[in-house]
Amino acid sequence: MPPSSTSEKSSKPSPPQASFGFRCIGCGSVTAAAAQDFRCSECGNLLEITDSSWNSRNPTALKTLWRERRSLNASLDLSGVWRFRELLPAPQSAELVVTLREGNTPLYELRQSSRSIGIPRLYAKHQGMNPTGSFKDAGMTVAATFARQAGYRWVACASTGNTSASMAAYAARGGMRSLVLVPEGKISWSKLSQALDYGALTCQLRTDFDGCLRLLQELVRQAPVYQLNSINPFRLEGQKTLALELLEQLDWQAPDHIIVPGGNLGNSSAIGKALLEMLDLGLIPRLPKLSVIQAEGANPLVRTLREGGGKRLVSVQAETRATAIRIGNPASWEKAVKVLQATGGACEQVSELEIAQAKAEIGAEGIGCEPASAVTLAGLKKLLQQGFVKPDETVILVLTGNLLKDPDFTMGFHRGDLFQGTADERESSRLNPFRHPPVVLDALLDAVIKTLEQVEKSDPTHSNA
Ligand code: F0G
Repeated sequence: MPPSSTSEKSSKPSPPQASFGFRCIGCGSVTAAAAQDFRCSECGNLLEITDSSWNSRNPTALKTLWRERRSLNASLDLSGVWRFRELLPAPQSAELVVTLREGNTPLYELRQSSRSIGIPRLYAKHQGMNPTGSFKDAGMTVAATFARQAGYRWVACASTGNTSASMAAYAARGGMRSLVLVPEGKISWSKLSQALDYGALTCQLRTDFDGCLRLLQELVRQAPVYQLNSINPFRLEGQKTLALELLEQLDWQAPDHIIVPGGNLGNSSAIGKALLEMLDLGLIPRLPKLSVIQAEGANPLVRTLREGGGKRLVSVQAETRATAIRIGNPASWEKAVKVLQATGGACEQVSELEIAQAKAEIGAEGIGCEPASAVTLAGLKKLLQQGFVKPDETVILVLTGNLLKDPDFTMGFHRGDLFQGTADERESSRLNPFRHPPVVLDALLDAVIKTLEQVEKSDPTHSNA
């Protein structure tokens, strides 16, 4: 998959016979190389990476090896992604790897939510604790490495913010230039500022995410840029390690449910692929159910399953305050449908108010996340009500982005103006108990003590423990 213009590439040799190949998820044909658009040349469907060497590994030996690496200081072992390199496509040499020590993210108990909704074993896998603050870094380290190996000068993505932040950082670390296409006015300042600081050429396009992605698809066919959206199957390989690491943290005891937000549907596809490969290899004895939650206003997967029977994509004009998942035409919908069906997972949608409440609840546990991540807790409540999740089951919520990714949402919520002027304004008053607005006082000791006493009186039983 070399760049089309030789003047734009370095003199690095192209990869020798790698043991991995590209398999079309539609017609199943396998090729050694992929075109610029990462689509099957026969049927146009998406590609996934396959490697015959993965299946011949000994699961017990792998578990020991991966654990041992946690105490080693070599660059690849310090990465929570490359630590699992036996189940990743192998680059030509370790020197090519672009890493920021991604992965190795915490698994937290959600004690308060666990009590309030009645699920004793409820945990959050916090991918927002990655170097650029989102789960994208796990995939980006792998895809950026292969971009570098192929000698690209430019990498590019369309993004709702997190992919662009991550890509810009990894491109900078790998000595490549990056081009970011984002919808103007539709991504948070925090994410935009990251791309600028990491030196990306940032284009704010007057369209939505789906429009940016369409344009990128045309661009990669004409210019020697390497696309780093999750259509790029190397991204999904890196994102598989979320599941490997999670299972390691659970001592390889499969949880009953893993719940993820759904946007462009790369992450759910990656986690599902990892679960199926782990089962095949004997790393886990049974499959967890993988469920995907979307915002009501950006629910193409929900509608694809309910109205299209999972067979045709039902696109939507997306609208949600959870801007990371404001996507109406998800690229990886077929991959996601396959893994949902293979694992027996569910797909649900949640309202803007439910998202805001869930985000505040996760914040009040001292953990915090961005709005798109909070759909997982809101969705869990629904799945519990429907009886799909049982109270005695073990549930993992994947928190995809850090709290600091979207301070405007958080401030708007706590100040009480998040829903001002919207159809949700009246009903949003029921969220008042979850708000912690700032208090402006004169700089007097008495004023602070009085406020302290008032708060204590209004909520004497408060406990976070
Ligand atoms: N959560 C966050 C915080 C995200 O940034 C995204 C996607 C998702 C969930 C959905 O994941 O697309 O794999 O289904 N953000 C992309 C971006 C689209 O450009 O940053 P998905």
